[in-house]
Amino acid sequence: MPIPQPSPQPATTRQGRTRRDLVALVLAVGLYWTLATRLELFEVVSGFAQVHESWQLDELPLTLLVLSLGLTWFGWRRVQEARAALHERTIAQAEVAALLAQNRDLAQRLILAQEQERRTLARELHDELGQHCTAMRAEARFIQQAHAHTATGDSAGRIGASAERLYGLVKGMLNRLRPPALDSLGLEMALLELCDGWEQQTGIACRFMPTPCQTPSPHDLDDATAVTLYRLVQEALTNVARHAQAQQVWVNLTCRGDGCLHLQVKDDGQGLPEGTPPRHGLGLIGMQERVAALHGTLQLHSQPGQGLCIDITLPSLPPTPSAP
Ligand SMILES: Nc1ncnc2c1ncn2[C@@H]1O[C@H](COP(=O)(O)OP(=O)(O)O)[C@@H](O)[C@H]1O
Ligand SMILES: [Mg+2]
Repeated sequence: MPIPQPSPQPATTRQGRTRRDLVALVLAVGLYWTLATRLELFEVVSGFAQVHESWQLDELPLTLLVLSLGLTWFGWRRVQEARAALHERTIAQAEVAALLAQNRDLAQRLILAQEQERRTLARELHDELGQHCTAMRAEARFIQQAHAHTATGDSAGRIGASAERLYGLVKGMLNRLRPPALDSLGLEMALLELCDGWEQQTGIACRFMPTPCQTPSPHDLDDATAVTLYRLVQEALTNVARHAQAQQVWVNLTCRGDGCLHLQVKDDGQGLPEGTPPRHGLGLIGMQERVAALHGTLQLHSQPGQGLCIDITLPSLPPTPSAP
């Protein structure tokens, strides 16, 4: 959910209010002056005070003058204090903003490092484990053929089957670590593949609807943005499978007129529980971190019984040469 920000008052509104108050003050004084000169108010008050001199009422006008001066001083002190507090708050806000920017920067670096690590791991798994699995399968087949219908041949067959299973596992891990389609086919096809695979796995219909973009085309996206979009859809689909009890999910990727990318993942499940803010597990927090690291926004829209809609907007970034 976006953090609500206090809306700053425009300076022109404040100046207008000060001018209005000053006019009201001058009018009130002028009105009093007119009334006082017409009714000779001071004479009336001092006459009344003279009559009740025993109660020291004649000291009242000057006492009221001192009181009004005192109140002016009191008000001025409070204004000074309020100004100092405002100044401190402005400094604190600037510090918080700087820390937030630092945090975002750190999150972006962490995410990039994580993706880099995943990519390296995937390459090593593919090059080392994958090759060895293939070699084991070939050797096992050779032994099996050379010792057909013997205990050695049967054992070699089992070794070959184990190597086959191991290879399947490695392939699955490779897919999760760094989806090969992302590099070979681009974001759109990788998302399509993800959607189809997820649909087959979960039995929940997944409709991926990319809208053709002119600028930027998803093919022109820098690696960080493409990987971020892929991981966001991955986590959103995992959540649908785990929490939504949905029949269908729609994944939309569009480019807006202002050049921003808009991703929407919407399901027709039970939605977030009513009245309570969503319990942010690592998934939603991770999504927010990824989006914030690219200076984007993430919003959750949910009605109980009408599913959850995740709206993500990312500014389109120019391709960076140092892709992870
Ligand atoms: N598509 C969804 N439909 C209903 N509830 C959801 C959905 N996605 C997330 N949630 C709710 O938000 C919570 C936080 O999700 P997440 O941060 O991914 O953590 P986790 O999946 O580990 O529980 C979930 O526990 C769930 O209650
Ligand atoms: Mg989750």
